[in-house]
Amino acid sequence: MTRVRKLHIKSYGCQMNVYDANRMADTLAPIGFVETGMADQADLIILNTCHIREKAAEKVYSELGRMRKIKESAALEERRVVVAVAGCVAQAEGEEIIRRAPVVDLVFGPQNYHRLPDLLNEASRAGKVVDTEFPLEDKFEHLAPPSRRAIQARGVSAFVTVQEGCDKFCTFCVVPYTRGAEISRPVARIVTEVERLADGGVREVTLIGQNVNAYHGEGPDGSPWTLGLLLHRLADVSGIARLRYTTSHPRDVDDALIAAHRDLPALMPQLHLPVQSGSDRILAAMNRRHTRADYLRAIGRFRAARADMAFSADFIVGFPGETEEDFRATLALLDEVGYAGAYSFKYSPRPGTPAAEMAEQVPEPIKGERLARLQAAIDIHQADFNAQCVGRKLDVLLERPGRHPGQLVGRSPYLQPVQVVAPAGLIGEITTVTVTGTGANSLFGTLGPAMPDHGSMMQTAVGV
Ligand code: 5AD
Ligand code: SF4
Repeated sequence: MTRVRKLHIKSYGCQMNVYDANRMADTLAPIGFVETGMADQADLIILNTCHIREKAAEKVYSELGRMRKIKESAALEERRVVVAVAGCVAQAEGEEIIRRAPVVDLVFGPQNYHRLPDLLNEASRAGKVVDTEFPLEDKFEHLAPPSRRAIQARGVSAFVTVQEGCDKFCTFCVVPYTRGAEISRPVARIVTEVERLADGGVREVTLIGQNVNAYHGEGPDGSPWTLGLLLHRLADVSGIARLRYTTSHPRDVDDALIAAHRDLPALMPQLHLPVQSGSDRILAAMNRRHTRADYLRAIGRFRAARADMAFSADFIVGFPGETEEDFRATLALLDEVGYAGAYSFKYSPRPGTPAAEMAEQVPEPIKGERLARLQAAIDIHQADFNAQCVGRKLDVLLERPGRHPGQLVGRSPYLQPVQVVAPAGLIGEITTVTVTGTGANSLFGTLGPAMPDHGSMMQTAVGV
């Protein structure tokens, strides 16, 4: 019989890492690993890392200090703990990690997690193992589909990787180096996975990929399908009520994607479309290969297809050479689009990327000051967007218990968290909620009034 061992995975960064962590757990389950939330009880600890900005990468090393203590106290009890570093820091830094943090036994990149059982065997024989090759074999496809239990544990909303890697080479970004060239999963495999998720009670699927709308997976007819076609196919899967996808690139917005937003009620009217800067000069230096006008045209096409589309974006401030005038163009773009929310970052030079070598690096205090101004502007837009929802009836997919007893939290079509008094039995249902107020990052609402009797009865039932 396989000996039960405990596995602790800590993920940093993007949704892709969360998905990969689930897949690592699936890969290790057949050889006897069960997950634990407590690092100090684990036999195998995996830090699934992010290299996108310096801060994200440095967190790994401070966490490894903690892992060293855990490993030392386990050794006193004659228990061996294997410490592994996975993800993009592993890919970018390889052996350097073991040099800097000797506590680490195993380093493997995002392309290699499916080889984990073999790598663990090698580590127990050889001591230290580093595997950051880009293999030819397909890392997704040898895996059995996730078990029903694993799916249920993940709730009513699930992520499915459809595409990985990026060929865009924005001059600030490590992703093309750490995640490699763009690859797409075949349509049939994605459909099977989504059908299984639906069987397990999942109602909403978010398709993920570093450059998801560059999707070009093999269709059932042998020809490459676009993301738009894939979304049409997935909208037919019984039980799936909502579809989303992230993250998109403005250059890869095509007619099929626009048509999907026009034709598919299941496709939510919300899009994360990073722009990074509102200045054409900076966009060119970033090698974004789109202008401000191209971006605004893309936004216009989505809005023409679906009038209530809500947008979010990523912005970088203090890219090399960014002047106050360039930065103001970014602030102006924010107003022009009227985002529902956005993420903003100080430019962080990443070793090996072209922008890290550029002259005219922007001093830290200026980056800090611009970030504060941009974040303040984003907050105003987000608050405006949320305030406009008050008094409206929104369809909310109820996902899990809320902060207070009797409350559930769900998501609006626009991805806002919504807190509502409702019985736990409604988890997994899409319910009409009247929005009554806004909080810092969420909306508050009451059930109905689509079904007033039903709604008030439920509210009473929660009270007892
Ligand atoms: N510095 C700052 N932000 C970055 N991002 C990517 N690389 C960097 C970098 N070197 C941001 C971009 C991207 C998001 C995921 O992270 O805005 O869209
Ligand atoms: Fe990085 Fe996105 Fe640019 Fe690709 S498109 S290089 S992932 S910022």
